[in-house]
Amino acid sequence: MNVLLIGSGGREHALAWKVSQSPLLSTLYAAPGNPGIAEHASLVGVDINDHENVVSFCKETDIGLVIVGPEAPLVAGLADALNAADVKVFGPTAAAARLEGSKGFTKDLCAEYDIPTAAYGRFNNAPKAKAYVRQVGAPVVIKADGIAAGKGVVVAMTLAEALDAVDACFEGAFGSAGAEVVVEEFLDGEEVSFFCLCDGKLAVPFGTAQDHKRVGDGDTGPNTGGMGAYSPASIMTADITPRVMRDIIEPTMRGMAEKGCPFTGVLYAGLMLTKDGPKLIEYNARFGDPECQVLMMRLADDVLPILDAAANGDLDGFSPRWLSDKAITIVMAADGYPDSPLKGTIIRGIAAAELQPHVKVFHAGTALEGADIIANGGRVLNVTATGGTVRQAQERAYAGVDEIDW
Ligand code: AMP
Ligand code: GLY
Repeated sequence: MNVLLIGSGGREHALAWKVSQSPLLSTLYAAPGNPGIAEHASLVGVDINDHENVVSFCKETDIGLVIVGPEAPLVAGLADALNAADVKVFGPTAAAARLEGSKGFTKDLCAEYDIPTAAYGRFNNAPKAKAYVRQVGAPVVIKADGIAAGKGVVVAMTLAEALDAVDACFEGAFGSAGAEVVVEEFLDGEEVSFFCLCDGKLAVPFGTAQDHKRVGDGDTGPNTGGMGAYSPASIMTADITPRVMRDIIEPTMRGMAEKGCPFTGVLYAGLMLTKDGPKLIEYNARFGDPECQVLMMRLADDVLPILDAAANGDLDGFSPRWLSDKAITIVMAADGYPDSPLKGTIIRGIAAAELQPHVKVFHAGTALEGADIIANGGRVLNVTATGGTVRQAQERAYAGVDEIDW
């Protein structure tokens, strides 16, 4: 089977690495890709924003499956265009991707299907939002409705902070994503990322992880897309998973099907394990980045048949197997990330890092300049390792980091 992978981050490098090991694969293509992905795939100059262009490439190249990594092409309807042209795609339609693309949509679905989540209000103007904020008091959470590159959420510990966040949203801090604001009850607990593969009807658990959100050591500084992750999340014990499936994931799948937008692809639930049980914080319609990197390191099975089965509506009977090893990934980011990452600096030592036992380096924001690998984004490398314990995996990953000269 020929496969086209869409995306250019560490998540997509991990997918390319894993898909390239499949005996079912003929040729792997990637757009736009990065130098790490290019080790496993043939990079093609297809414009992923031009859906007709993607469709005609798939027809010409006899692509059997398109795997979409990031959320933006999904929210923009790339899967719809591929479905309409009878090209198989792993990833939800635009209507199904609203689970990530509109926080208000997801909150309303939770209310309708009795899915445990934080109490909330939806507002399209500041005075009403502020009145609600004053009524519930701090701590409280203010969210831009749409996609804001992971930055549209303010967990306000004081009333003043919350009121400022409402103003910032309506004054355009997050562009059109902030035209509507969701105000949420603050949930206290520990967060966990829970992944399911979905075929429109059925959802199959596909691993757990925890990520490290703040940029600085010691959990300081602004939130980022994720500075590292490990898997599995031991806090997600065997008794919690069936409860999450029953109370959160399965009603979501049912609700989406009943609304005429069945969900296909990865459903990534951000959960808060509260004293009253697991509650949904948010959904993403894609793999986490960098969570995908640790999942791919631990997946014992061939990934291609299961992604293909999800795309075919045929997941029944699949039960993915995992290595007992733990995995960790450490994000190496450019100076200035997340605000203004410094680009163009030369990176050496990736091959030396990969000579360390059980270490794999995934490329995120890198580019080739002549023979040099240079930094070309915020999160640049994901130094990833496995081990018998998370601690051992961490020590191995840092031994890899030590080899990188950047
Ligand atoms: P989101 O983009 O919705 O995942 O929000 C980003 C982060 O804000 C989450 O990963 C949580 O750490 C935090 N957060 C979001 N909603 C809540 C909530 N209702 N209570 C507490 N923390 C939250
Ligand atoms: N690492 C968090 C995310 O991918 O949304």
